[in-house]
Amino acid sequence: MARTAVVVGALGVIGRYIVERLAAAPDWNVVGLSRRTGPPRERVRYVSVDLLDPEDAAAKLAGLRDVTHVFYCAFQAGGGEAAGYAANVAPNLDMLVNSVGAIDRAAPRLERVVLVTGTKYYGSHLGPFRTPAREDDPRHLGPNYYFDQIDWLTAFQRGRRWTWTELRPQTLCGFAPGTPMSIVPVIAVYASISKALGLPLRFPGKPGAYRALYQATESAHMANAALWAATEARCANQAYNITNGDYFRWCTLWPRVAEVFDMPWAEPQTISLVAHMADKAPLWEALVKRHGLQPYRFDEVVAWPFGDYVFGCDWDVMSSVTKSRLHGFHDVVDSEEMFVRLLSRFRAERIVP
Ligand SMILES: NC(=O)c1ccc[n+]([C@@H]2O[C@H](COP(=O)([O-])OP(=O)(O)OC[C@H]3O[C@@H](n4cnc5c(N)ncnc54)[C@H](OP(=O)(O)O)[C@@H]3O)[C@@H](O)[C@H]2O)c1
Repeated sequence: MARTAVVVGALGVIGRYIVERLAAAPDWNVVGLSRRTGPPRERVRYVSVDLLDPEDAAAKLAGLRDVTHVFYCAFQAGGGEAAGYAANVAPNLDMLVNSVGAIDRAAPRLERVVLVTGTKYYGSHLGPFRTPAREDDPRHLGPNYYFDQIDWLTAFQRGRRWTWTELRPQTLCGFAPGTPMSIVPVIAVYASISKALGLPLRFPGKPGAYRALYQATESAHMANAALWAATEARCANQAYNITNGDYFRWCTLWPRVAEVFDMPWAEPQTISLVAHMADKAPLWEALVKRHGLQPYRFDEVVAWPFGDYVFGCDWDVMSSVTKSRLHGFHDVVDSEEMFVRLLSRFRAERIVP
């Protein structure tokens, strides 16, 4: 019998790849949830819903009787001064409760809820932490909305027929122009601007970050992992780190990035990308015109705070993927090759010169 997936956050950096992966498989129908809608196609339809509004969620999700699997990858930033920490808890817990609660009531054949959290579960964003991080490592001192989400899901699932699986990826990388919160466009646009100014490609982050070990998760690889997690019996009520399965250092990748952009590279020089890119929008617009690039606005194509965050991690960021391997997910991605491939595509598809 065909399976029906609800992808919550279907237009996000993670959700859109899960939709694509399921649509390419022969036996899935897909319902994508988000406030915006995407283009409907065979076996994929979108429902526009504000998951922060419990009544809207209850009304729009009540008809989802055939759902067998939920992939939860929505995210909404909380506002105010504590953005990123305490302020993120309420919206992200509410959206999970309002969507999974409504689907649980509507769908008697529900089998599995896959919840996407991330490596920040271990406090990877705060400073050095125990590496490689293992799924059963103790949590950092909160707030962290991942803790609220998984605690709620675990408690809600008790006594029900379906099971949950939590996936913890790190720094998603894909080809999704127009979704700026990604390190790939940060590198692509930074390199293009440096080149246009006649500068060598310098790593803009902290010296320690240049040499520390880092990891990433290719979006298509994440989608494969999500499909595995949703359908593998052994994944019931388990958490898994999901990364490419290797580690890299920016210092070894940097010369290869320079090669992609046909430019020289030089030693790091630490700058704040937010501060130093603040006046570069006119230069970007000139490059778009001069090279006939796809017409993405500067703020649509890249999020500089994300670059400062990633290149500011001057400690090792490493998760162990041993558990997922032992439980049957064996896919790996060569991260250096992935960056070369994705950056080359940004050039080939005229997003950057
Ligand atoms: N991106 C990464 O590198 C990364 C790495 C590790 C972990 N993660 C984790 O993965 C999870 C998903 O993150 P993401 O980066 O994929 O997020 P994202 O790209 O910002 O996507 C968020 C999705 O949620 C939807 N959404 C937001 N508010 C909504 C609302 N009120 N009602 C309905 N839909 C709503 C958005 O669509 P609309 O705006 O149309 O509503 C969008 O489809 C987060 O917990 C994040 O921490 C992400």
